[in-house]
Amino acid sequence: MSDSLILVTGGAGFIGSHLTDALLAAGHRVRVLDNFSTGQRSNLALDNPRLEVLQGDVADAALMRRAVVGCQAVAHLAAVASVQASVDDPVGTHQSNFIGTLNLCEAMREAGVRRVVYASSAAVYGNNGEGVAVGEDTPKAPLTPYAVDKLASEFYLDFFQRQHGLEPAIFRFFNIFGPRQDPSSPYSGVISIFTERALAGKPICVFGDGEQTRDFFYVADLVPLLVQALSAAKVTSGAVNVGHNQSISLNQLLAAIGEVLGSLPAVTHTAARAGDIRHSRADNSLLCQRFQLAPATPLQDGLARLLGR
Ligand code: NAD
Ligand code: UD1
Repeated sequence: MSDSLILVTGGAGFIGSHLTDALLAAGHRVRVLDNFSTGQRSNLALDNPRLEVLQGDVADAALMRRAVVGCQAVAHLAAVASVQASVDDPVGTHQSNFIGTLNLCEAMREAGVRRVVYASSAAVYGNNGEGVAVGEDTPKAPLTPYAVDKLASEFYLDFFQRQHGLEPAIFRFFNIFGPRQDPSSPYSGVISIFTERALAGKPICVFGDGEQTRDFFYVADLVPLLVQALSAAKVTSGAVNVGHNQSISLNQLLAAIGEVLGSLPAVTHTAARAGDIRHSRADNSLLCQRFQLAPATPLQDGLARLLGR
């Protein structure tokens, strides 16, 4: 399928733009659909003739019908990625994070496009992973509108698979980090905020005591998994966790950033976020079984690359 056309929704964003680069490098044609709410044109190789950019919203059903025409497969990454943003604006977030998925399913069914890679989230497990590595069968406990929309999207993809032969490859990403993760909003991913502030010598604010943990995964390690899922001869149903089965607390993360830079600015603490998950760590045995994983980028190396060291 080397020169086939792939639709990447959210392709101007952090993960989507890395995927777009990889697909273009592999010889594919890529159609990016993005509303540029958090994504940037500067993330895209706009001078590449194999790249097409559609500016618009996944909540626009007519646009989605046009977007899938001629595509071999779709990577559906467009969403409001911030859990906190969904808490502040559940209705607005729902348009992007749920209606967008439903529109895509309908558009794919009508156009006869089958393969879709979907970016779900560890957020669907809520706090059920407290103290353990969460396997895919762990009972779901979506604590926020973000998590509810991700889980509902998974269920809809499953329905379209059973009813209409869609081929969804669903990944539950844990915390992805790396270059192009936009640090400019208080809603941005924690590593992008902490590293940007550390480089600028500005105070860093931790929500809560800093003992909450995450399973951080470097974006360059994620992209080959998405490419494999887009091009595999067949997909096996059921969502797959993407993490390393490693817990890093925010306090450990800050220490690691300090080690790379040689020093840290002042660190302050404020109240924990509503709905914030305390501990999140992936059981990744299914991922290792189903996909070819390159050696993982250690957190320290990923941070060093981000910090330009
Ligand atoms: P991002 O904000 O950089 O990318 C999201 C992209 O989608 C942006 O380019 C944005 O402009 C676009 N977008 C948002 N709403 C849209 C809409 N209604 N219509 C069209 N485009 C829209 O975030 P990211 O970290 O690259 O996240 C990509 C996907 O991965 C999201 O679905 C997110 O929920 C999921 N995810 C991310 C992480 C993570 O740690 N970064 C973890 C789990 C799941
Ligand atoms: C992140 C992703 C979400 C994904 C989920 C999967 C982003 C923006 N969010 O959510 O899309 O589905 O992982 O696990 O990419 N924090 C601070 N100070 C800050 C910012 C954050 O202390 O300035 C804390 C938060 O309260 C939280 C932790 O850092 O405890 C991680 O926050 P964040 O990076 O927003 O990620 P998640 O909420 O885990």
